[in-house]
Amino acid sequence: MDKIILTGDRPTGRLHIGHYVGSLRRRVELQNSGEYKKTFIMIADAQALTDNIENPEKIRQNIIEVALDYLACGLDPAKSTLFIQSQIPELCELTFYYMDLVTVSRLQRNPTVKSEIQMRNFEASIPVGFFTYPISQAADITAFKATTVPVGDDQLPMIEQTKEIVHKFNSVYKPVLVEPKALLPSNDACMRLPGVDGKAKMSKSLGNCIYLADSADDVSNTILRKMYTDPQHLRVEDPGHLEGNMVFTYLDAFCKEEHFERYLPEYANLDELKGHYTRGGLGDMKVKRFLNSVLQEELEPIRQRRKEWEKDIPAIYEILKKGSETAREVAAQTLSEVKSAMRINYFEDEELIRAQAAKYEA
Ligand code: TRP
Repeated sequence: MDKIILTGDRPTGRLHIGHYVGSLRRRVELQNSGEYKKTFIMIADAQALTDNIENPEKIRQNIIEVALDYLACGLDPAKSTLFIQSQIPELCELTFYYMDLVTVSRLQRNPTVKSEIQMRNFEASIPVGFFTYPISQAADITAFKATTVPVGDDQLPMIEQTKEIVHKFNSVYKPVLVEPKALLPSNDACMRLPGVDGKAKMSKSLGNCIYLADSADDVSNTILRKMYTDPQHLRVEDPGHLEGNMVFTYLDAFCKEEHFERYLPEYANLDELKGHYTRGGLGDMKVKRFLNSVLQEELEPIRQRRKEWEKDIPAIYEILKKGSETAREVAAQTLSEVKSAMRINYFEDEELIRAQAAKYEA
């Protein structure tokens, strides 16, 4: 029981079902497993500001949305510490010292940062804060001595960078920091759930998301009317294709065998359903209705819990405030160990003061 979880999200919008299968669902299971000494869940507002500097209000407004989504999914403030990154100044201090352990060329090789720079047209003028956010993410992780970081594979370069910093710090100074491991989703569909239009990623600007907070009607409209299937599957009798077929991708991410008993008892499992679809004779609408039942079952309790929490917004800010205080104590402890390993703890070091005095007495 010495394992510790830390993970988080940038508060740039409400969370969608891609976040859910990619990480949120797993976090709740881990939180409830009893196998972890502590679970820290961070709203990464400071990181979100690194590429939203002209848009602070967006970040400010979305803190509560992300917190509501967390609580709705079943993250429990009695078991997990929910906190806000910017409220932990110790993270900035750690970042500042870690900057000495990383080269510019190493940062330039980070594939996630590279593609983000492209997406944002930052090539000509990358904000330094954005460029260095992998170092700040290493501070997030190590401040809590996290062993386990549940994330999607786009975050692997950050974990790699963190490991390098830990290794360097521990070998140059003292073994204070803990090497983290990423915990990835169990299948490809969960790893990178595409938008309902089959586009690479769910994103607000593409309008291809299903949000955790969407109403039941919105969800079924999106599935039944908008979701992309197999364009060559024109008649029910035609053989259908699974590749690029979002209905099946989403079933891969959400469907369990028990769903068949409840909603589609003529099939035993997803393999049988896929078999029938590819042979021909199974219509898209039937599969879509099945997916809709599966998703509604999963999302309904989340919506209900969200509604309950929405009635007490001040209580959520209080949870985040308490969580940030707790997180700060833990980060301060690590920072103090870091500073003493780096020999910058002058006033706590009576031996230093005595030795310096002795030098001048003679
Ligand atoms: N980079 C993560 C994202 O974009 C958010 C994040 C910040 C994070 N600090 C973290 C994730 C530490 C895991 C651990 O979603």
